[in-house]
Amino acid sequence: MPKRRLCALADLDATGARSLTVTLDGRPTDLFVVRRGGAVYAYVDRCPHAGTPLAWAEHEYLDEDGEHLICATHGALFDIATGACRGGPCRGAGLTPLPVVVEDDAVWLLA
Ligand code: FES
Repeated sequence: MPKRRLCALADLDATGARSLTVTLDGRPTDLFVVRRGGAVYAYVDRCPHAGTPLAWAEHEYLDEDGEHLICATHGALFDIATGACRGGPCRGAGLTPLPVVVEDDAVWLLA
């Protein structure tokens, strides 16, 4: 499967996450990469509640205790590993995951 380099693993050191834009299916798509422990995940940067980007500051996607992703608009909480809504106005919904792998100290999108 072809893969595209998204960022260096070290780019996640400061905030635990990184926002970026890639072209998917010919369209620019905002997404973010987030790390939890040794695992890395990626999601489309779009809240399922009202469709806004999630970050509350540049590359900042985690809540205060680092346990969940949080939407800056209305405070919805999401599971870091699955993107499932864990609280707030997005109940029953979830983030759109993107397949990534870590190789050579970088995060790669499988697409
Ligand atoms: S837009 Fe994210 S919680 Fe409302």
